[in-house]
Amino acid sequence: MTADPESLAWVAKAQREHVLTSWSKQSGPDPLVVVGGEGCYFVDSSGRRHLDFMSQLVNLNLGYQHPRLVEAIKRQADELCYIGPNLANEARSKLALQLAELAPGNLTASFFTTGGAAANENAIKLARHYTGRHKIITRYRSYHGATAGAITLSGEPRRWPAEPGMPGVVRMLDPYTYRCPAGHPDPCPVCSGGPHLEEILQYENPETVAAVVLETVTGTNGPIVPPDGYLRSIREVCDKYGILLILDEVMVGFGRLGSWFGCEHWDVVPDIISVAKGLNSGYVPLGAMIVSEPIRDWLREHTFSGGLTYSGHPLACASGVASIEIMKDEKIVENAATQGILLERRLRELADRHPSIGDIRGLGLMWGIELVRDRETKEPLAPFNAKGSEAAPISQVIKAAKDKGVHFGAFNNVIRLAPPLIITEAEIDEGIGVLDEALTLADQQV
Ligand SMILES: Cc1ncc(COP(=O)(O)O)c(C=O)c1O
Repeated sequence: MTADPESLAWVAKAQREHVLTSWSKQSGPDPLVVVGGEGCYFVDSSGRRHLDFMSQLVNLNLGYQHPRLVEAIKRQADELCYIGPNLANEARSKLALQLAELAPGNLTASFFTTGGAAANENAIKLARHYTGRHKIITRYRSYHGATAGAITLSGEPRRWPAEPGMPGVVRMLDPYTYRCPAGHPDPCPVCSGGPHLEEILQYENPETVAAVVLETVTGTNGPIVPPDGYLRSIREVCDKYGILLILDEVMVGFGRLGSWFGCEHWDVVPDIISVAKGLNSGYVPLGAMIVSEPIRDWLREHTFSGGLTYSGHPLACASGVASIEIMKDEKIVENAATQGILLERRLRELADRHPSIGDIRGLGLMWGIELVRDRETKEPLAPFNAKGSEAAPISQVIKAAKDKGVHFGAFNNVIRLAPPLIITEAEIDEGIGVLDEALTLADQQV
């Protein structure tokens, strides 16, 4: 973890000149050069420690350089770095067994991928094959990945440059109770799930719909926690019409919400679940699509038409096995639940002090603070899909916190918080203290 900013200046320059970076114009300032990390902190080339309140891309759930996880990857590298997907390997079989045991209900067979988008691609391809139908229903406020099919599933504006995209995708509205698109009557057809889905199916013909694909709790575009009863009601409508329910738990699976899987909060079991990120904290690229027993049985008689050179990569699987063992031994899910309660309390205290806070919402260790100019009218501090100067009221809060060494995320007018699941009370207090100061900038816009 040596730090010599001068001698490492070429690293930033080479990245800016020769690496295409995600979701941005390629003309930004030189990126921060990171030379190491430990626990919830990463270290830049000047030796400065930064508290990561976003777990990078909400994947580094076990934090930086967890020694047991690093050791497991080294051990597997010494033993066998690669073997093709159709030969058996101990690391892959062990991970598949662990997932069969951990995943909710009758989800017992996994197809391993290199990330979340590929898991979703395979889920919809399989759902279409299995049902013999072609339409997929998703939601507007969603992100399911950047590959051709997954970006079409995604409802948010990152989809636009990829349009027209994959045919057959139909979108429904979200249970965003703070700004309900239906005006939130009681009972609300959108926020209760089933009635809105039924209406869409009536127009689309349910016999053409293969699957409904939802983030159990909306991540990037939220957080949006569905009201109690929402998922069950969606499940019931899916069952009524023979439609598969695919839950995308790429962001929320493996402890993020204070439970192993997000759907456990509402006791709903999907037909297929997609996971990645927290599955192994992203130490090696890994994702999985986990399917129910009826689908697995059907695949005994039908070809599974999916494949990847790196499906079930031994290094990735070994890190998945170790990650699950660490999560059990170190009670990581329990810590996420406990610290999540503390984080919520701290956020509600912030809301008492800062008039710019319109709404606080989340679950476990995934939270959002929605900033507004006026609590009565709920006028957002930055408009939907804000860019440049329109986004400044939010980006200046993020920058002020970053200057003090704490990294938060932002989406439209929402400050996002998703720290590593190993976070302690002292680290939560450190992060919230910095955010408290930074939010005074937002208050000036009220
Ligand atoms: C809910 C959800 N699904 C899918 C993805 C895509 O995963 P990946 O980037 O590993 O392809 C993401 C990434 O942020 C996500 O949040």
